[in-house]
Amino acid sequence: MDRDKKNEEIHVYDGIVEHDNFLPRWWLAILYGSIAFAFGYFMHYTFGPGATIQEQYDTAVREYEVAKAQAAVVTAGGPGSDPAAREQMLLAWAKDAGHRSQGKAVYEGKCAVCHGSLGQGGIGPNLTDDYWIHGSRHIEMAQVISEGVGDKGMPPWGALLKDDELKSVVAHVRSLHGTNPPGSKAPQGEKVTFE
Ligand code: HEC
Repeated sequence: MDRDKKNEEIHVYDGIVEHDNFLPRWWLAILYGSIAFAFGYFMHYTFGPGATIQEQYDTAVREYEVAKAQAAVVTAGGPGSDPAAREQMLLAWAKDAGHRSQGKAVYEGKCAVCHGSLGQGGIGPNLTDDYWIHGSRHIEMAQVISEGVGDKGMPPWGALLKDDELKSVVAHVRSLHGTNPPGSKAPQGEKVTFE
């Protein structure tokens, strides 16, 4: 049978002529293509390696948990974390001159505008004296720098600094202690004793 030749009209009802033409090839291609695709799709997601929405969600949550745990390494009070161990870790990090100079570069780029290029203070408090609002331990500084102080004008840097940049800028800030730069801002906060 010649596929392209249209059948003769076969049915007339109420003056309406009903033809029985072949379906167009493009239409059939879409139909069979869809069936083949649906089969592949079903096999991939039901029996194959395709991740379901639940699995994709679980993966995203796991990635988030890992990122959060890493962030908690430098901020105080993270879940299951030991502050003393983290303080030791940041202290060891601060001993490295390379880390301190990385921290100096971060400080000059992002912090000097408010805290002064020498840490003498400006919009933000003096970072060289014995007086601290949020504490002078490395982990306390890391937390303030990471989370900011919302209503006091200290921005949160956690999302903008990489983990090692944060640790390094803490190291640099701690190295400013006792430098007594000219034009130092008056003390703010509590007097602390440095170990
Ligand atoms: C827009 C201005 C601004 C910038 C930029 C800024 N800070 Fe601050 N910072 C402040 C203010 C204001 C405070 C005081 C917050 C308060 O009163 O609780 C503060 C507080 C702090 C404290 C706690 C001081 C204390 O006495 O406990 C540290 C540490 C600190 N900033 C470090 C940094 C570092 C490091 C950067 C750069 C990554 C930075 N800040 C950038 C304004 C700023």
